[in-house]
Parts: sequence; structure tokens; C-alpha cells
Amino acid sequence: MKKILVTGGAGFIGSNFVKYILKTNTEYSVINLDLLTYAGNLENLVDIAEDPRYEFVKGDIRDSDLINELFTKYQFDTVVNFAAESHVDRSITEPEIFLTTNIIGTQTLLDASKKHWKLNPDDKYCRKYKQGVKFLQVSTDEVYGALGSTGMFTETTPLSPNSPYSASKASADMIVHAYHKTFGLPVNITRCSNNYGPYQFPEKLIPLMINNCKHEKSLPVYGDGMQIRDWLHVSDHCDAIYTVLLKGKDGEVYNIGGNNEKANIDIVKLIIKTMGKDESLIVHVQDRPGHDRRYAIDNTKITNELGWSPKYSFEKGISETIDWYLRNNEWVEKVTSGSYQEYYDKMYA
Ligand code: NAD
Ligand code: DAU
Repeated sequence: MKKILVTGGAGFIGSNFVKYILKTNTEYSVINLDLLTYAGNLENLVDIAEDPRYEFVKGDIRDSDLINELFTKYQFDTVVNFAAESHVDRSITEPEIFLTTNIIGTQTLLDASKKHWKLNPDDKYCRKYKQGVKFLQVSTDEVYGALGSTGMFTETTPLSPNSPYSASKASADMIVHAYHKTFGLPVNITRCSNNYGPYQFPEKLIPLMINNCKHEKSLPVYGDGMQIRDWLHVSDHCDAIYTVLLKGKDGEVYNIGGNNEKANIDIVKLIIKTMGKDESLIVHVQDRPGHDRRYAIDNTKITNELGWSPKYSFEKGISETIDWYLRNNEWVEKVTSGSYQEYYDKMYA
């Protein structure tokens, strides 16, 4: 049985991944460590909560005593680090937590992995690790910065992050790389484009627009809405991470993308049309400070070397996603009660 520590497994992508891995490979058991911040929600995991191969631990990736205790107790052989502060807008108003969670949290997990996996942990020259161990850092295309109207990010594009969020993720990537180079720790870094799908917190573009459309509230498009993102269904992202766990070469970075560039305004108009609403709901609001204009992922490396490619078409994915948010009203109501309204009023004042 493979023992995998998934951090941030109560968030959007993490919860999709926990369910994906339990379903895809019965040889895995999962410990999900999550602090349950505003973005973490155990409701995302109700269908597998009683699975004997699954356990939840509430805790912080910055808590090294806890992480070491968990390593001793469960003897993990794999760590997949999703835990992060993930919303760019929040990083503009509250940068500090992004630095502590995303950078120090990652370093804390790396240290525990090194200590528990190294064959001789007291020898600083020892570069030998237990058989089959792997630390996978879930990163983002945002570490590369912004593109003009042409070009794509490859794994060798220099890191040039522009927001406190992307700067914290780039810093974490560099620490992961350093643990590989200096200590020989078996790592991979994945850099994925924008995800969409079920259980995404409605602070992000697609679920926010679906939810506002449903309530016929105005749809706040930043600036001219011509910023471009490359959208990937979350299940394709989970599949790509699993592929990297199985076949990724130690120390390598893999870009993950959907070959699916769309301008924000086109996504918003598509949601309006699918939901039978009117474009008069669109309101162009002040642009996000430092807003990256365009991202585009070249995923040739993961496709050619590991044989992964996205399966979902955007048309199918977005229509299923809209449908999911409409059918799962209880989930939406739950996650948008409490502090959500306060956040919304402050962010979109
Ligand atoms: P999310 O905000 O939905 O979930 C983050 C999870 O991490 C939450 O469950 C939260 O409770 C948990 N968490 C936060 N701080 C923690 C801490 N200190 N200790 C333990 N748990 C903590 O994020 P997401 O969209 O699912 O993104 C997951 C990962 O994927 C992030 O690392 C993000 O940078 C990366 N990523 C996201 C996207 C995307 O489009 N959403 C794309 C590429 C990469
Ligand atoms: O590219 C990967 C990244 O995608 C991940 O690393 C991040 O964790 C994830 O949050 C996402 O970042 P973005 O900033 O691209 O996602 P967001 O959904 O916040 O915004 C998508 C685009 O839509 C962006 O250009 C800003 C715009 N937008 C967003 C919101 C919330 C609006 O125009 N209006 C809005 O209200």
C-alpha cells in the first residue's frame, strides 16, 4: 500500500485529487492534512469520508512538530503539496499569509521529507533516500509572469512573478529545487494553468460569475476583460499530477495546460448565454493591480515524455460545471455564508 500525504486536500483541486486517487488506484491510502481556512471545506469530501483508505487531519503545514509526528505515525512515501493561499486578489490586500503558508509551509514539509526519507539523516553528504519516495510540489503557470500576444511558457522560461501570490509560489519552487540540488531529495514540480470544475470556491472567475448570474447580480469584469488564461478541467489536472507521480523524472518540472486560451470577457459571455441571462449584467470594474495580461502553457514536455494530454473539451467541461453549481445549491449556499459576503463587499466595493 502506498501512503500519500495530501496537503490542502479540502480545497478545490486537493479535494478533487483525493477522490481521484482513491478511485484510480486502490493501492493508495491518503492522509489529508488541511488547516480548513476559508477555502477548505470538508463538505467537498463527504462521499469518501468513511473510506478506510482515507483519513483527515486538521493542521498547518507550517507546524513542523505536527508534520514530523505524522511522518512517524504514517510512514508516508509520497507527499503532494496543494496547501496554499491561492487567490491573487487576496494576496494584494493581505500578502503576509501568502509568504508564510506558501514558502515556509513548503520548506517545513521538505525538511520533514528529507529527515524521514534520507537513509542516513545525520550525514549531510548522504544523498540516498528510501526506495520509491517522492515530493510533488503543485505550482502554477503564474510563476513565469505575463506574456504578450504571442509565445508560450515552457519549463525553461525564466521565473518572473508579478503578484505576491505568484512570487510566493515561485519562491516555494526555488526552495523545492534547492532541496533536490543540495540534498538530492526526489522531487517534481508541476506548473498548471487555470483550473475550473466542481468545488471551486466562488471567489475565482468562473464560479463567481455562475453564482452572480444565478442571482442576477452584476458581473464584475476587471478592466477591458481581454486578459487571457488557459483553462483546464480539474480532473485533467488530477490526472496529470498522478501521471507525474508515476512517471516523472526526479528533479524535473512539468508544465500542465489545456491548450485552451480564452479571454475573460468571452468566458463571462458564454456563462451568461448558457444560463439564459442578459449581457447587461456585465460591469467593467477597476482592473486588478499588476494584472497579468496573458498566460499560455506549452505542455509538449509532459505530453511527449509522460504521455499525458487533456481529455475534457472546454465546451463539455464548462457546461457540466455550470450544471454542477446549479444542482449543488446547498454547497454554494454553505460556502458563501459567513465571511464570504464581507469579503465580497470589501473586494468589489
Ligand atoms: P484552494 O484555495 O481552493 O485550496 C487551498 C487549500 O489549502 C484549502 O483547503 C486550505 O484550507 C488549505 N490550506 C491553506 N493554508 C494551509 C496551511 N497553512 N496548512 C494546511 N492547509 C492549508 O486552492 P486550489 O485552487 O485548490 O489550489 C491548490 C494548489 O494548486 C495551490 O497550491 C495553487 O497554488 C495551485 N494551483 C491552482 C490553480 C487553480 O487554477 N486553482 C492552478 C495552478 C496551480
Ligand atoms: O494560472 C493559474 C492560477 O489561476 C492559479 O495559480 C491561482 O491559484 C488561481 O486563482 C488562478 O489565478 P487567476 O488570477 O488567473 O484566477 P481568477 O479566477 O482570480 O481570475 C481569472 C481572470 O479573471 C483574471 O484575469 C482576473 C479576472 N477576474 C477575476 C475575478 C475574480 C475578473 O475579471 N473578475 C473577477 O471578479
